[in-house]
Amino acid sequence: MTFLKMQNYEILIEEGGLSHFAKHIKEVYEFDELFVVTDQNVFDLYKTKLIEALVGYRLSFVVLPPGEKTKSLEVYQQAIKTLIEKGIKRNHLILAFGGGVIGDLTGFIASTLYRGISYVQIPTTLLAQVDSSIGGKVGIDLKEGKNLIGSFYDPKFVLIDPSFLKTLSKREYANGLAEMIKAGLIGDKKLYTYLLEHDTVTEVEISEAIQVKRNVVLLDPYDKKERMYLNFGHTFGHAIEKKHQYETYLHGEAISYGMLIALQIGIQIGDTKEELYQEVKTLLKSRGLIQEPLLQMDDYRDEIVHDKKNLADGLRFIIVTKPGDVKIVKLKESDIL
Ligand SMILES: NC(=O)c1ccc[n+]([C@@H]2O[C@H](COP(=O)([O-])OP(=O)(O)OC[C@H]3O[C@@H](n4cnc5c(N)ncnc54)[C@H](O)[C@@H]3O)[C@@H](O)[C@H]2O)c1
Repeated sequence: MTFLKMQNYEILIEEGGLSHFAKHIKEVYEFDELFVVTDQNVFDLYKTKLIEALVGYRLSFVVLPPGEKTKSLEVYQQAIKTLIEKGIKRNHLILAFGGGVIGDLTGFIASTLYRGISYVQIPTTLLAQVDSSIGGKVGIDLKEGKNLIGSFYDPKFVLIDPSFLKTLSKREYANGLAEMIKAGLIGDKKLYTYLLEHDTVTEVEISEAIQVKRNVVLLDPYDKKERMYLNFGHTFGHAIEKKHQYETYLHGEAISYGMLIALQIGIQIGDTKEELYQEVKTLLKSRGLIQEPLLQMDDYRDEIVHDKKNLADGLRFIIVTKPGDVKIVKLKESDIL
């Protein structure tokens, strides 16, 4: 088992860790009533296991439809209504049990309902385990764009049990691998090298990927500076997702194309070697994350210009100089578009 300390909470990473869940809850919560927010897929697959792990607790479930559309104002409002009807009080504990959609939405509910209720993250997708459950960013989407309403709100703890990953589809698994490849490229050469050679991961690599994110989040909890490193590949990734209405490409697929475009820009400005680009391209292709012909940045100009992360003082861009090493460069729109 690995324990990673964040500023206000711990991340517990253990294969089979769900079986010790009740013990961890007892350390942070004195009552016997728990409110579980989840989606229908996770509920169908893991309801029994969760109930078994939490013997002695009374569980109230809020089961939502799977998919990004659940991160909406309408579902937010509906889920809050259900929680209130089921009797939730300010000192109760909510469990966010699912992928990143459930984690982001439930964290946002927890941060706003009664001006803040405690919650715990139990991420069940690889993407949620290595990325969305870490760092305290919670929120929902608007018709105008993704993650436009949200807050920073830390959970009581995060429980990561890689055994949930056994039921993930190959495509959803690869979606998480893409964020791990990014983590390796920006901050952990050993992890990157492992991912070149293996298409499955264990709690060891999950911990390594989390530590890359953890290190920048601890330096910059509110996303003002260093946390920007995590955006490697995301300027184009977000543009690709947006242009295709968040339907054609999963996030990991979009950022895979985005990482390649970012590496190309690195080559253009003399900071990145062509061999690294070729190596990453072969890796992403072999994991089913990209297909040739590759998506080209020319087709995503409008979306890039409107990305909320493009700050008023120009486009700050993350360049990987070699695996594990990054730098921020300031580009003008005309440099890349
Ligand atoms: N807060 C952050 O810092 C942050 C970071 C990255 C991404 N995100 C957000 O995360 C969301 C994407 O998360 P996601 O990729 O986990 O998507 P998701 O939550 O939609 O899950 C993907 C699919 O996998 C299913 N699923 C979940 N666990 C499963 C399991 N163990 N076995 C089988 N199926 C399972 C879900 O029902 C869903 O159909 C996006 O909304 C994105 O904006 C947030």
